[in-house]
Amino acid sequence: MNRSLTLFILSIIICNSLFANTPDWGATGHRTVGEIAERHLSKKAKKQINNILNGRGLAMVSTYGDDIKSDKKYDKYYTWHFVNFPFDTKYETSKKDKRGDIVMGIQTCVDQLKDPNTSQEDKSFYLKFLVHLVGDLHQPLHVGRAEDRGGNDIKVLWHYDKSNLHRVWDSEMIESFNMSYTELAANSKTLSREQIKNIEKGSILDWTYESQALAKKVYASAKMDEKLGYRYSYDHFETVQSQLQKSGIRLAKILNEIFD
Ligand code: ADE
Ligand code: ZN
Ligand code: ZN
Repeated sequence: MNRSLTLFILSIIICNSLFANTPDWGATGHRTVGEIAERHLSKKAKKQINNILNGRGLAMVSTYGDDIKSDKKYDKYYTWHFVNFPFDTKYETSKKDKRGDIVMGIQTCVDQLKDPNTSQEDKSFYLKFLVHLVGDLHQPLHVGRAEDRGGNDIKVLWHYDKSNLHRVWDSEMIESFNMSYTELAANSKTLSREQIKNIEKGSILDWTYESQALAKKVYASAKMDEKLGYRYSYDHFETVQSQLQKSGIRLAKILNEIFD
């Protein structure tokens, strides 16, 4: 192969790795949240959602927020997937990103869906985005530190492959578990009515602080360049599963309220 062609190919590989989209939870995580939520929807909500989404289920549309990242038209929503504010400070008094954040993004979706003047097309957009963002909010590192972009800059090895702490929590642990989203949803913990009620309690902000508290533990769980694998999943996969389940239950609660 001649030198300039080699350089050309190398530069493409480097550019791709530098600017690659960093998807969230990963498709399986997001779909699990959608599937769990689907199972907690009221009849009334299910009917209206079915109408807006043309028969597609919540699992099917849950990755929409990441799918649109490939279209420049949607660049303005980039900051809606996360929020970073210093640990042990309040979101309410923190400096906000002008472009918006996940707390504001979720609220906008809810407001738009409640507004009788929102068009069917916009309802579909905000509903799909809401399903995605409630998932993201429960990935602890989406309420992380700005300095390391929610753990994206904490490089680690996942088994023997290059990864980062954010990606381990978005997708590596889930993918390594090797279950489909329907299996993960079907095998989520059986909860009593009271336990579900407790999970449903609170506001979007309360759940943001809950994720931030978990994020602190996640940061303490791994060092730069550490090799993570079976032992890490053994210690942390329960938190992943519990966050996916909480997220699904809370998403259903929000949707049941909107479509009451
Ligand atoms: N980019 C910057 N901060 C981030 C975070 N907390 N999660 C995902 N992407 C980010
Ligand atoms: Zn992510
Ligand atoms: Zn996202």
